[in-house]
Amino acid sequence: MSLLKLYSSFPLKIDYAQKSQIFDKNGRVYIDTFSGIGALPFGHSHPELINTMKRKMERYTHLSNFILDDDAVYVAQKLIRFTGQKGLVYFSNSGAEAIEAALKLIRKISTKGKNKIVYFSGAFHGRTLGALSINGIKKQREPFLPLLSDTVELPFNDTNRFNAYMEEHAKSTIALVLETVQGAGGVKPLNSEFANAIRNWKQRYNFLLVCDEIQAGMGRTGKIFSYQHFSLSPDLITVAKALGGGLPLGALIMLEPYSDVFKPGEHGSTFAPNPVSLAGARYVVDNLPALLDDVIIKSDYLKKRLGEMKSDRIADIRGIGLMLAVELKQSYPALADIAFENGLLINVIQGKIIRLLPALNISRKIINNMVEKLENILGSLQ
Ligand SMILES: Cc1ncc(COP(=O)(O)O)c(C=O)c1O
Repeated sequence: MSLLKLYSSFPLKIDYAQKSQIFDKNGRVYIDTFSGIGALPFGHSHPELINTMKRKMERYTHLSNFILDDDAVYVAQKLIRFTGQKGLVYFSNSGAEAIEAALKLIRKISTKGKNKIVYFSGAFHGRTLGALSINGIKKQREPFLPLLSDTVELPFNDTNRFNAYMEEHAKSTIALVLETVQGAGGVKPLNSEFANAIRNWKQRYNFLLVCDEIQAGMGRTGKIFSYQHFSLSPDLITVAKALGGGLPLGALIMLEPYSDVFKPGEHGSTFAPNPVSLAGARYVVDNLPALLDDVIIKSDYLKKRLGEMKSDRIADIRGIGLMLAVELKQSYPALADIAFENGLLINVIQGKIIRLLPALNISRKIINNMVEKLENILGSLQ
């Protein structure tokens, strides 16, 4: 095969996908707990969403930033409104590009004495060199050293270590980058004591708080942005994944007073924002708020069902909204393959954490099916 293998993809010959299910060419059905790694809030092939994309596509597919698409203005306004503050939006094609834009902004306002960017162990912000500079997962980061200078890793959710660092270095800290629910790090929500510490140090020293909402944002946790669970006030917010409704689109939301740091010509992209992705995003920002209550209801139901599974292999069930994890006591290298054989597509991280990122409109029936399959699979493990 001529394709570089970076992911262990399933041996699945896909025919089509609908809602929370994928159908292969042999007529087999798979329950999809990935939803495109969190990029399909309304599931696969949502008819209205597809139609808005199609309508845009029939008018044009690409313009460039020299011709403004109305949807860009519309979606940007909505994103700002979701924050309840004032600011401006820069659109990118992906999450990592939104993070790069944030890092460039931070670099531009850094000074010699105030230039440290703090990030946390377990953090994932993308695969570009800039994003890897604030990546807290050793095996992803280390092969690519040296990365950007002046970044500092602190242990996630360790308030004592954080306070001790800040006592000495708060003055030289320009920014802190945070996933309020770590995704690739193992679905780990921020604890409230840690959130308070971040809020207090930020109030005293006015460093920028960057909330990476690429995975946990856009309704995934039952609020538009996951930081809203923790009463944090970010200055910069990155979103992507669910934003385009399945098509590539990311955004850096820059709140005042940081909305005018970039000047014309200082950043940009040929393709971003793609007009068809923007049509998807318009549908997403218009329809997501009405879905939020249901995300919480489904989350409570899914958590309850997961908690009722009869298995002594489970160490922990955690997460917020429909960003959930079932952590096992030990690693099972064949777990995802066994699940695949049983018609369930699961993402297993670190060998033993089953990360569930289903579509936000997943039905109870599919939830029931998913949990039954999972329980059987766990029961069959040797
Ligand atoms: C929290 C977070 N930040 C950044 C990224 C990178 O986004 P992308 O893969 O679109 O570059 C991801 C992707 O999984 C993510 O989960």
